[in-house]
Amino acid sequence: MAMKPPLGIGILGAGVIAGDDDGFLPNIGQLEGTIHVPAIADVIRAKADDLAQRFSIPSSYGSLEELLEDPRVDAVANLTPISEHAETSLAILQAGKHLISEKPIATTLEDAGAIIQAAQERDLAVVCAPPDALYRQYLTARKMIDAGDIGKVAFARVRSSHAGPGGAADGWPGDPSWYYTDGSGPLYDMGVYGIHEITALLGPARRVSAFGGITEPERTVRGNGPFAGTVMPVTTPDNYLFMLDFGEATFAVVDATYNVHASMAPKVEVFGRRGAMAIYHRDENPLEVYRQDLAPGVDGWMAAEDLLEAKNVREIALHRAMLFEHLAECLSQGLHPITDAEHARHALEVMLAVRESSRTGRAVELTTTFSGSGS
Ligand SMILES: NC(=O)c1ccc[n+]([C@@H]2O[C@H](COP(=O)([O-])OP(=O)(O)OC[C@H]3O[C@@H](n4cnc5c(N)ncnc54)[C@H](O)[C@@H]3O)[C@@H](O)[C@H]2O)c1
Repeated sequence: MAMKPPLGIGILGAGVIAGDDDGFLPNIGQLEGTIHVPAIADVIRAKADDLAQRFSIPSSYGSLEELLEDPRVDAVANLTPISEHAETSLAILQAGKHLISEKPIATTLEDAGAIIQAAQERDLAVVCAPPDALYRQYLTARKMIDAGDIGKVAFARVRSSHAGPGGAADGWPGDPSWYYTDGSGPLYDMGVYGIHEITALLGPARRVSAFGGITEPERTVRGNGPFAGTVMPVTTPDNYLFMLDFGEATFAVVDATYNVHASMAPKVEVFGRRGAMAIYHRDENPLEVYRQDLAPGVDGWMAAEDLLEAKNVREIALHRAMLFEHLAECLSQGLHPITDAEHARHALEVMLAVRESSRTGRAVELTTTFSGSGS
């Protein structure tokens, strides 16, 4: 599947994540020569036109079909709402285009499997959001865990939550009501990040045990935005806590809730038999490692200089457009993606298992796996 740059990436879905500062289009400037965006499409044509004008994209269309007919498009970034992912991603692959998928890859394991099969049959690459497993602190942490730097991992704590859309003092730019209804909620919206992060570090999980519930039956949008004061019924669990069993007495606890107004805790903490590590999403010292016998007989935090490669320059520079860079890299160097569809399918299975376990009160065994080798 090797391919010469620049890679032509078409955008499907001209919504928030396409044009947001932390999203894709505002951050592609630094990828000039590596990728280009020849076209954008949205079922609401005016939205595609608007972003095409804002980001100097040569063509805009009102349908996926037109985008797929454009010969300059080598790959499509599927930035449509979650419910649209499976059908549109399959159409993209069936048209012979590589795929970048927003999260989650699909809403059923069958659909996720069909996407993987369609890509394999055509030797096409699939790169999936979120990009967290590409951040340097995760790559470095994974290498150190694999090298045994903190010993056998006993357990990890993963923070994957915020106060909920509309729950912070600055409110929300649109109407966040749908986040509190079935098909969304903090599991698909936020828990997905923690699941990708911890499985990127420890590999596939084997079992899930979860609690979930609705903390209060309604919420009110805060701030001064257009929907401030809107009362939102909460009809799906807004408060999940779950445990992952990785086998051989290695566990993780992950929160996926709209009830974290603030936290001083790291994003991820991993505790091993010979040390510990803390991962942050921040510019300085995003990875801190504590080791037994750092010097003979002395335990302590490793000096930051030893972790220099953990500095997260690309994430700061590219945000979600890291996924564009990763696809281009994989195609030009003939590599299998790190954030691949198998990993995204496993994350989806964990989310489905969290829902089931919280409903039944029983642990759920997982069946899918991934290698995410990047080789
Ligand atoms: N908004 C965020 O902060 C955010 C953050 C990370 C990831 N995401 C993910 O990005 C994706 C999109 O989220 P968003 O917030 O940008 O949504 P959005 O509703 O703002 O934008 C989606 C766009 O897709 C268009 N669309 C719908 N169906 C389509 C189809 N079949 N073909 C072409 N266009 C279609 C809609 O008209 C809309 O303009 C979701 O998967 C979400 O999980 C969003």
